[in-house]
This record gives sequence, C-alpha cells and structure tokens, in this order.
Amino acid sequence: MDERYAIILAAGKGTRMKSKLYKVLHPVCGKPMVEHIMNRVEEITPREVVTVVGYGADEVKAQLANRSEYALQAEQLGTGHAVMQAADFLKGKKGTTLVISGDTPLLTSETLDQLFEYHQGKNASATILTAQAEDPDGYGRILRDRVGIVEKIVEQKDASPEEAQVKEINTGTYCFDNELLFEALDKLTTDNVQGEYYLTDIIEILKDNGHIVAAYQTNDFEESIGVNDRIALSQANEIMRKRINRQHMRNGVSFIDPNTSYIDDSVKIGAETIIEPGVSLKGATVIGENCVITQNSQITDSIIEDSVTVKSSTIEKSTVHLQADVGPYAHLRPKTEINQQAHIGNFVEIKNAVIGEKTKVGHLTYVGDATLGKEINVGCGTVFVNYDGKNKHHTTVGDHSFIGSAVNLIGPVNVASNTCLAAGSTITDDVLENDMAIARARQVNKEGYAKRLPFLQ
Ligand code: UD1
Ligand code: CA
Repeated sequence: MDERYAIILAAGKGTRMKSKLYKVLHPVCGKPMVEHIMNRVEEITPREVVTVVGYGADEVKAQLANRSEYALQAEQLGTGHAVMQAADFLKGKKGTTLVISGDTPLLTSETLDQLFEYHQGKNASATILTAQAEDPDGYGRILRDRVGIVEKIVEQKDASPEEAQVKEINTGTYCFDNELLFEALDKLTTDNVQGEYYLTDIIEILKDNGHIVAAYQTNDFEESIGVNDRIALSQANEIMRKRINRQHMRNGVSFIDPNTSYIDDSVKIGAETIIEPGVSLKGATVIGENCVITQNSQITDSIIEDSVTVKSSTIEKSTVHLQADVGPYAHLRPKTEINQQAHIGNFVEIKNAVIGEKTKVGHLTYVGDATLGKEINVGCGTVFVNYDGKNKHHTTVGDHSFIGSAVNLIGPVNVASNTCLAAGSTITDDVLENDMAIARARQVNKEGYAKRLPFLQ
C-alpha cells in the first residue's frame, strides 16, 4: 500500500455560523466536528496528519492535542492557500494525501477507504469525493465532459446558470498524489469571484498538465453534508443521532421513540436497557444492562450500573450502583455515589455524598457533603445543612439508623450506627451508637385558646 498522509482544513472562522465558537469546534452529538474528522482520519491509518489551523488555533490544537501536527494559516486566503501551509511537513514526500474539511463530520472511514481504492484503481493524480445532491445549493459543482470524464470543479459563486444546474457536488474531500499536489499548488491564482486560492482549481491544473483526475461518487449525500451554518448543524446532528441510536438498537437497546432520544457519540449502553423519549445521555456516560431510563432524564458523565431505574431525573458526574433506583425528579449533582439497591425518591437533591446499600432517601430531601451507611431510612424533608455561608462541612450517619422527617443535621456532625433522630430535630452534636437524639422545643397546648383567635371566629 502507498504511504498515506492526511491534511485537515480547520482554519476558517465559520462566519455563517454567527458564533463566538470556531466552526470546527461546534459539537455534533457531543463531539466537536473536527474530532469526528480526526477519528475517521485515524481509521485510515495515515503516516502523518497535518491540521491547518488559523481562527481559534489554540482551541483546535487543545482539542486534538498530539494526534496531529499543526500548520498555521495566519490569513484565511482560501482552501488552496490552507493546503499550501502544510508544505513544510509534506512537500516532496511520496504517497497519497487525503485532504478533508473540518466541517464534514458525517463522512465514514468506509467511504474514505473506498475513495483511496478508487484513486489507486484509476491511477489518478487526484480523485474528488462527490455526491448527488437534491439541493446542491452552496456546494462546488462537478463538471464532466460528454463522456463523463471530470474536467473541473466550479464554485457556486463562479458558476454560470447552466453549471449551477449540475447536481453532482464536491464534498470537499480528495485524494492527491502528494508530490503533484504541492507542485500544482504553486500554480493557483485568485482569479475568481471570491478572490481566494481555491483548492478546487487544482483539478483543472492537473488535468491541463496531462494528469489523470477522477471522481468517486458516494451514493449517500447525507454523509457528505458540509456544516456552514446552524441549519446544516442541526441536520448533521439529526443524521448522526439516527446513526448512533440505530447502532444501540442493533446492540439490544430499546428506544420508545429514537427520534427524541439524544445520545452522545461517546456514550455506552448495555443490552435490554429501555430509553424513553426526551432522554439525553451525555459525555462519558456508561449505562449498564437492564436499566430503564424514563422520560426527560438527563445523565452527564455518569456511571449507571445494571438494573437501575432512573425516572425523569438529572444526574451529573455520579455513580449509581446495581439495582438502585432514582427519581422521579431527583437531582444527583457531581460526586454522588448511590450504592446497590438504594432508593432515591422524588424531589431529592444529593451532592458530594455516598448513600449506602439499601438506604432509602424517599422524599423532598437535600443531602450535601455526607456519608450515609447502609439500610438507613431518611425521612421526608430532611436537610443535611452543609454550608455556613463560608465553608462546607461533612456529616456522617452510620448503618441502620433511622432519621425522622424534617430533621436538620448541622454539619459537621457524626451520627453513629443504630441511632434514631427524632422527627423535627435539629442535630448539632454527635450521636453515639444505639442512642436516640431529640432536639426540638416541647409542645405547649393552650386550653381554649383557638376560640379566642379573631381569625377563627
Ligand atoms: C468548499 C469547497 C466546495 C465544496 C464544499 C464542501 C472550495 C473553494 N470549495 O466550500 O467546492 O463543495 O467545501 O463542503 O474549496 N478553510 C481553511 N482556510 C481557508 C478557507 C477554508 O482552513 O482559508 C477550511 C475551513 O475551516 C473549512 C474548510 O476549509 O473547514 C472548507 O472551507 P469552507 O469555507 O467551509 O468552504 P465551502 O464554502 O464550504
Ligand atoms: Ca464548508
């Protein structure tokens, strides 16, 4: 096999996005577009990858780190000019170079492989990856002669009305003979409507110099969508989402309505799990087998083990162990760990806390900065008072304890195992094993007093 190289074009500003975020960093199903491209490029195992950066260079470099070499395009003078910047790394090397845009996140590595094969089969100096578009608006058009041989690419803005009728478009992805590419780049001019160095003009230059140019047409236009604005961004998200959800279904995951479940590219889900509508699973989330994730749950960067039920809840940077259940309407904030078979009920908020095995926190409770042992019952309306206005304090509750309703535990405080905290207590002092703490004012009943209250008359 010929040596392979790759150049990723990622220096543009993305004016049409109307965004402060650089175009190629806009996420599609949770991952920046340029990272999708990098993943695909790595799958075709190039010897060297050069990413051309300009706008947002530091951010793009931070995203791809040492997966690429970087060429700086200080001024954005066009796609041809962008490729010229990679000369220091690649000029004169023998092999085949893939040039790909940072804004075509849906291309698959199978298609890229086919492009390389076609390029080699045709013995071409350049091969364009093309597609048939129903609506070719905005793309460069492929012009072929009467027998179908590629002549050149014309940009939409430079196209005559007849040329604009052509529906075969340039996906912005190409294979080039590397040596010929850098020779031809020297011949580019800016003689066009946009006054830019168009990479697309290389095709005509190579052809005029007697080299073979070819075009490999994919049968899937959707794969080649170029994201120039937020409408295309939403289309790319939709297509990628369908792809991701279909793959999960093939692996044994059930979706009630796959069109309304938003699963990031990075998420893993076990077989027999059911995902209901409106669910978002983001970042480094891993869901086990046999789970049920009900409507509108949002789970980010969390581990959910097997046989867990999450009902309409929000979970961030947390872990929920085997057979526990959460919700409805619970909020697990970062650094929460729910152990096996624990029950977290409705309107419960937990942050930086461990909830022991089979412990129940059923209703309307806040647990912040706490460690709870196993088989504890936490009554309704309990508050772990962790914040004094300046610092956070930690509270511990031992195994098999019973916390009545509406208890305030003022941290820091240690409550030992097998204890009971009476309902309505405000706990400020440690409680020893087997003790009961009651901390509330005594009730006083005033005889006949209700009758004297004017508003009860
Ligand atoms: C380009 C093609 C067009 C093709 C389309 C496919 C040219 C002249 N046109 O148009 O034929 O149909 O892609 O999506 O090549 N970039 C730089 N430096 C620059 C300019 C662009 O790095 O000076 C990068 C951009 O960041 C982007 C890529 O090159 O990732 C493509 O540029 P863009 O402006 O999006 O080109 P299109 O107008 O879409
Ligand atoms: Ca584009």
